[in-house]
This record gives sequence, structure tokens and C-alpha cells, in this order.
Amino acid sequence: MLLLLLLLSFSPSPRTEAGEIIGGHEAKPHSRPYMAFLKFFNENTGKTSQCGGFLIRKNVVLTAAHCNGSTMTVTLGAHNIKQKEESQQVISVSKAFLHPDYDSKKINNDIMLLKLKSNAKMTKAVKPISLPGPRNKVRPGQVCSAAGWGKVAPWSKFPEDLREVELKVQADEECQSYLEKYYNPATQLCAGDPEEQKATFTGDSGGPLVCKNVAQGIVSYGWANGTSPRAYTRIFKFMSWIKNTLRKM
Ligand SMILES: *[C@@H]1O[C@H](CO)[C@@H](O)[C@H](O)[C@H]1NC(C)=O
Ligand SMILES: *[C@@H]1O[C@H](CO)[C@@H](O)[C@H](O)[C@H]1NC(C)=O
Repeated sequence: MLLLLLLLSFSPSPRTEAGEIIGGHEAKPHSRPYMAFLKFFNENTGKTSQCGGFLIRKNVVLTAAHCNGSTMTVTLGAHNIKQKEESQQVISVSKAFLHPDYDSKKINNDIMLLKLKSNAKMTKAVKPISLPGPRNKVRPGQVCSAAGWGKVAPWSKFPEDLREVELKVQADEECQSYLEKYYNPATQLCAGDPEEQKATFTGDSGGPLVCKNVAQGIVSYGWANGTSPRAYTRIFKFMSWIKNTLRKM
């Protein structure tokens, strides 16, 4: 039975959903100043959910399309998401731009731009990350990383601090055989060594897969049991859509 990240994040639960970084560790505070914590109301489930995202302009956050909802709010500059840290900036989303070809059944083209109601103030704790250019190639075997706020195991409490994990990029064939018909190498990246218990999970959705300080992927989906490899939206394939949408904002 296929249970994807997307479905799990919206599954009934008595509490607000968060994500899980499996096999990772606490990030050094504010070492990833592009990280955004996204809260939204899911009208289908009637619940508040959370995702990751990342700042790419003073007033634009990039995330996964499956993190769409109403009354979206972004918190920037956070380490401990449960505390009111001085570094935090909470800004409402004024408009969501989902990719027009987002397919929620196959989970393809899982990418969304969020325009913020006001510009974030650039500080040590709040800074955008670069997007890939033609020279930033991702290769199998390359070690990248991902970060998010969420449980470290299904039975644990939700951690308050940002956690991160290193993930090895896999050949497309690994995901084509493991994630079967869902994986699309044209629009997705495959990451996470099947031999290691390291993965992104449910509410890590929308966060970046970072390779050499460039956001190359967006946490998208995988099996519900949190195993690797998992699929990430291949940002490079969406650069012209991103540029055109930024111009229209
Ligand atoms: C995104 O979410 C909003 C609020 O729930 C909804 O009105 C809108 O239709 C969604 N967009 C898409 C493309 O599903
Ligand atoms: C995780 O789920 C997938 C899909 O159902 C399955 O192929 C795999 O064997 C499972 N792995 C573990 C460790 O449970």
C-alpha cells in the first residue's frame, strides 16, 4: 500500500502536523538563514499543518505545492520554533503561485512560490539562498543536506529546534525502482542512501535539498515508513517558470 509523504502529512492526528528528520542532528542555530517555517490551514482536513520552505528573495519563499492551504504564515530566522526568539520574523503570505502542472495524484511538479505581505528584513538569521544555474550540476554520489522541524522518529515528541541531515544523491534508477511509477527523473531528484537510516519525512516537505550552498531540490515525497531514497523536486528544471513568476509578482 502506497502511502506518500503528502498523504501522511494530512492524516488525522490530534496535534498539529510536523515533519521528521530521520537520523540527523540539531542544526547550528541560524546556520541556515534561508529556512522558513510554513504554517497553513488545510481546508480538506480542517487542520493546521506545517511545512518547510526557503527564502529566495526578500519577499519570496519557495516550497512544495502540496503545502498549499489558506491563511499561510511564514516564520523566518527561527531556530527554536516554539519560542519567541528575537531573530524571528513572522510574515503572512499574500499570494501563493502553484505550478500550473502540479499533479497532486502523481505528486509531480510539486513546487510553489509564496509572495510575502512585506519584505523580510535581512539579518544574520534571515538571508536568501541561491537557486541553481547551468553550472551547478547535481551528480549521484554527491552529499547534500536537508533541514526541518519535526519528529526524529514516529514515536518521539516533536523537537523544537531545527534539525538537519546529510543525504547522498542517488542515480535516478534507484528511485525508479524504489518509488515505482511515481518517480519522474525529468522533474525530480533522488536522494538518500538506502543503506543508511537518514531521511526527510512528513512535515519536512517544502524544505530545500542543499548542495554546495545552492538549493537544488524541494522535499516532496517518499514511502510512509520514512525509508530512503526519496524524491525531491528538481529545481533546475523549473528555473524558467520561477523567473517568469517572479516577474509577474
Ligand atoms: C490552494 O489553497 C487554497 C486555500 O485552501 C485554495 O483555495 C486553492 O484552490 C488551492 N490551489 C490549488 C491550485 O489547489
Ligand atoms: C517501506 O515501505 C516500502 C513500500 O511499502 C517497502 O517496499 C519497504 O520494504 C519498507 N521498508 C521498511 C524498512 O519497512
